Amino acid sequence: MAKKIKRIGILTAGGDSPGLNAAIRGVGKTALGYYGMELVGFRDGFRGLVENRRLKLDKFTLAGILTVGGTILGTSRDKPHRMVIDGRTKDMTKVIVDNYHDWGLDCIVCLGGGGTQKNALRLKEAGLNVITLPKTIDNDVAMTDATFGFATALDIATETIDRLHSTAHSHHRIIVAEIMGHRSGWLALGSGIAGGADVILIPEIPYDVEHIAEAIKRRSRNGTNFSIVAVAEGAMSRDDARALEAAEKKLERARTLHDKKEAKIALATLEVRHSGNTMRLAKHLEELTQLESRVTILGYVQRGGTPSAADRILATRLGSACADLINEEHFGVMVAARGDGTEPVPLERVAGKRKAVPPDHSWVTTARRVGTCMGD
Ligand code: F6P
Repeated sequence: MAKKIKRIGILTAGGDSPGLNAAIRGVGKTALGYYGMELVGFRDGFRGLVENRRLKLDKFTLAGILTVGGTILGTSRDKPHRMVIDGRTKDMTKVIVDNYHDWGLDCIVCLGGGGTQKNALRLKEAGLNVITLPKTIDNDVAMTDATFGFATALDIATETIDRLHSTAHSHHRIIVAEIMGHRSGWLALGSGIAGGADVILIPEIPYDVEHIAEAIKRRSRNGTNFSIVAVAEGAMSRDDARALEAAEKKLERARTLHDKKEAKIALATLEVRHSGNTMRLAKHLEELTQLESRVTILGYVQRGGTPSAADRILATRLGSACADLINEEHFGVMVAARGDGTEPVPLERVAGKRKAVPPDHSWVTTARRVGTCMGD
């Protein structure tokens, strides 16, 4: 009897990042060309699996996408178990399972960050063969050395800091550059070091604004009356960090619906307040140092455009290794980057975890040794 051709589904979920198309191509070219499998893409993350919106991926659709930013499949932050359908939040897991079987899929490959790893685990627990690849500019997925998207965003943020130097210097200003990263500081730390920022603030090291002002004033006293502050979007003062920790603990301990609701409101209030944090920080530093300050929010330019060579290589090798695992029927894992190689890691060991910057990480130590103020 002829061997059944394996049919693979693939989707991209969560925020987009450079390298997604390179990864789709890496999976696709190896699966189709090397192993003779079939590949079908589902549009807009897990929603495409629910609504059966597909794109057949053949050698023609996979051609010319290596260098293209974004994702040819589209993406969304929809979760299988909590999806808004006709204005109501529903658990669509069963629909996904049924569609998977109706389509005769042998595996679904999910490209995404922390949230996607959790959603993929849910589908694994619902009985599907799932494999994930780690993607995000934040570099915060657990159990992998790196995520694709990070290297490109790092280049973009570094180039921005480079450019801010000359204008800050000309005007004798403080320029506070807000860098993405959600609740992790990898991107701000890496680009801050590479771009020679004078102050780097990351969520993992809560700051004291007086200490930052003192570092900036010391520079002025030494004849350098401009400073670049690279601040991660999730960075916060010691007071705010304490308040957040208390609110999170309260939510963890809440047993009644009423207590849960109250704790969630407290958390949401803190989040809203945090959204203006960079502007407040710049104003505060201006008051404390008497140096004019300006803010640059890098935002989505960090996620857009063509992937760097490093991300193309990483995404291609993870994608290709993913096809190898499908061939071996080794499912329920994330394909992690490990040194120059790859390693399958069970989804249970990845989902719900986050790779934060250890405060004693060599990047932090290095930044301090070259005189960078880390805000503490
Ligand atoms: O996870 C990538 C990321 O760009 C984070 O750095 C940022 O906090 C978040 O996504 C923004 O999400 P959205 O695209 O939903 O605005």
